[in-house]
Amino acid sequence: MTRVFSGIKPTGHLTLGNYLGAMRRWAEVDQHRSEALFCVVDLHALTVDHDPARVRRLSRQAATLLLASGLDPERCTVFVQSHVDEHARLSYLLECVATDGEMRRMIQYKEKAAREQRRGGSVRLSLLTYPVLMAADILAYGTDEVPVGDDQTQHVELSRDLAVRFNQRYGHTFVVPRATHPKVAARVMNLQDPASKMGKSDDSGPGIVYLLDEPEVVRKKVMRAVTDSGRDVVYDRQERPGVANLLEILAACEGKDPEDLSGAYASYGALKKDTAEAVVEVLRPVQARHRELCADPAQVEAVLRAGAEKAREMARPTVDAAYRAIGLLPA
Ligand code: TYM
Repeated sequence: MTRVFSGIKPTGHLTLGNYLGAMRRWAEVDQHRSEALFCVVDLHALTVDHDPARVRRLSRQAATLLLASGLDPERCTVFVQSHVDEHARLSYLLECVATDGEMRRMIQYKEKAAREQRRGGSVRLSLLTYPVLMAADILAYGTDEVPVGDDQTQHVELSRDLAVRFNQRYGHTFVVPRATHPKVAARVMNLQDPASKMGKSDDSGPGIVYLLDEPEVVRKKVMRAVTDSGRDVVYDRQERPGVANLLEILAACEGKDPEDLSGAYASYGALKKDTAEAVVEVLRPVQARHRELCADPAQVEAVLRAGAEKAREMARPTVDAAYRAIGLLPA
């Protein structure tokens, strides 16, 4: 059976981008057709300036939202990364396989390091080594497929490179994984700045739809989305990025094709209105389930505890094999 692994980082409130680019597919497709693990990757949230209480709160909220989005603990494994030591254990070995140059070429590292420096902060070493920990997340489970949005492609490529290199040097140990992306909405853009990704760690609230935004807030954000100077509704990501983003969001919500949808609209106003309503409808059941789960935090904790136990058992044989293959004495 295909093994699937993916993760979400508790660095901010989860967004429509996270949902359409990743989470929705995990719940609707991946957990039904594969042996799947989904992880709140909390160690990754420590790579930039962080508030411990906020990381704890956001980790709990992310786990609750994963379940609210439809992940079923009977069908897949949901857990928190720091509860399973194998991730950090394997990460160190992979650091001994990765190179400094490889790390410095990562686009997200360059962008985030520049942002930290602009803010006058220092760049944590873990920000540089982050993609290696992500490779460990993936490789520890013998993962075949990693369902992610577009922005994670380079990181998954690195995981592949490290798996191949390790296998060549030390003998076959890891499955070589591949990224999978949704057909539409693999990169949902910021509604106020369609040249930038809708990112949960960004500061610009009005352009970001959060999964827990009230319907009125969602409507306001979508209706105020920056569109382009033309008037007719055409699907052109280069020339009309604002409109293309709305068409993709609407298409993803309704399971349609953005190009086909563009023909159905004569004005930006009508497109915005339908997009806003489609987003509200997609979020409604997730929010309702989230409210129920919040009333029973012990249930979420129990799921995470059982998930970590299962994940540990799945990861340990591969990580132990890697320790032996690289030349360490068995304990
Ligand atoms: P993170 O937490 O930034 O995002 C979680 C998932 O949501 C997708 N995503 C988007 N998709 C479409 N449009 C957007 N605007 C958008 N924003 C986010 C991301 O592509 C991702 O699939 N490094 C990862 C977390 C991670 C991971 C892993 C993922 C750590 N270890 C192992 C897969 C496997 C990250 O920062 O995702």
